[in-house]
Amino acid sequence: MKSADLAVLGCEELVTCGGPIPKRKDALQEVAVIEKGFIASHQGRIVFIGDEKSYAQEVRLEDNANCIEGSGLVGLPGFVDPHTHLPFAGTREQEFVLRLKGATYQQLAEKGMGIQTTVKATREATKEELVSLCLSRLDRMLLNGTTTVEGKSGYGLNLEDEIKQLEALRQADDLHPADIVSTFMGAHEVPSEYKSKKGDYIDLLINQILPEIQKKNLAEFFDVFCEEGVYSIEETRTLVRAAKDAGFKIKIHADEFSPLGGAQLAAEEGASSADHLINITDEGIQKLAQSQTAAILLPAVSFFLMLEKKAPARKLIEQGAIVSLATDFNPGSAMTESMLFVLQLAVFTMKMTIEEAINAATANAAFALARHQDSGSLEVGKKMDLVLYNAPNYPTIVYHLGINPVRHVIKNGTLAVKDGQIIKNIYPAFCTG
Ligand code: NIG
Ligand code: FE
Repeated sequence: MKSADLAVLGCEELVTCGGPIPKRKDALQEVAVIEKGFIASHQGRIVFIGDEKSYAQEVRLEDNANCIEGSGLVGLPGFVDPHTHLPFAGTREQEFVLRLKGATYQQLAEKGMGIQTTVKATREATKEELVSLCLSRLDRMLLNGTTTVEGKSGYGLNLEDEIKQLEALRQADDLHPADIVSTFMGAHEVPSEYKSKKGDYIDLLINQILPEIQKKNLAEFFDVFCEEGVYSIEETRTLVRAAKDAGFKIKIHADEFSPLGGAQLAAEEGASSADHLINITDEGIQKLAQSQTAAILLPAVSFFLMLEKKAPARKLIEQGAIVSLATDFNPGSAMTESMLFVLQLAVFTMKMTIEEAINAATANAAFALARHQDSGSLEVGKKMDLVLYNAPNYPTIVYHLGINPVRHVIKNGTLAVKDGQIIKNIYPAFCTG
């Protein structure tokens, strides 16, 4: 018998996303559903998942165990959001209004708006303000079914403010039940004070900021915006190699607006992921498909910037790439914390199947963050990160638009959201109002 301190009994469906990770091609179609499923955990880890009969034979509930009735509910692994710009200050709705009048994202950036606006606001914010912003965003993520989140710096663009952003992420991680994976993205833009001397900023990144972030152990990943007018392929390669030498895992904002070849570079350099890929070339698709580098697609960006063009999800899947999905949560090109909205966009606008979208937002997203031993599927030994939706079956959570179907969220074996409300007081320091 296995002891359990938490159990969920008789879910209409438990969508486990189990099986070998990463998932490519046909494996992306398999979400491994258990009908009338039972699941139990002990001290935060899953100890049982299966049907009623084996549950009765194998599980013994401890006194005071938490027992949740699953009828009318569908359970999925908590979403893993592998690409967000979480610790930013200020919002950019005025820019959005200008875009609605015809300005493009890049035109605004050329006029000193865009990322630079958020850099100014983030530099002006205190670390405490950033922590508090992160906590309320993490609350919204949790309420929408996300239990693990990647977060990047990249709105500081100098030693002090990049460190401030990463320290805010670390504090938010300590205070909030959601898990945060940190990425240093000092190469998100060229700061305005270095516009005419980009080489000096690259030197500063490599020789001063990177070693300091490493010394303070503030980030696991390094990310760079490889784009026309930002960092070229050669500059990206130089930065990535320096970051790899310093022990960072690599992500690249690749082929978002122009087909520079960031995807090929990511595959060649053994990056964990190439992200965006709206303008990836056929060669880029082939290189990614033959690599262990995940293709993280961000359909909220095409939607938010009202771009005709979308990342070629079908081609990437058919050729065998490790396709994953993320929000890209940021104030300029994707102001949403909701992975469910992203799944819906992936299905409705990129022709992914519901099963592909679910695997891409769980198992493959965990793989892209090197968290697949712990997260991304409901399997014995993994973290009990379970989201229970008000739905008769899993297709309904994608099919029924414009509502939040999340009923309960269990994070690390603790009920963190109950009946659609955050439970305060269980995580003492986590109480963001
Ligand atoms: O991932 N592409 C670059 N960076 C962000 C946008 C950041 C911003 O507009 O503030 C992105 O889309
Ligand atoms: Fe991004």
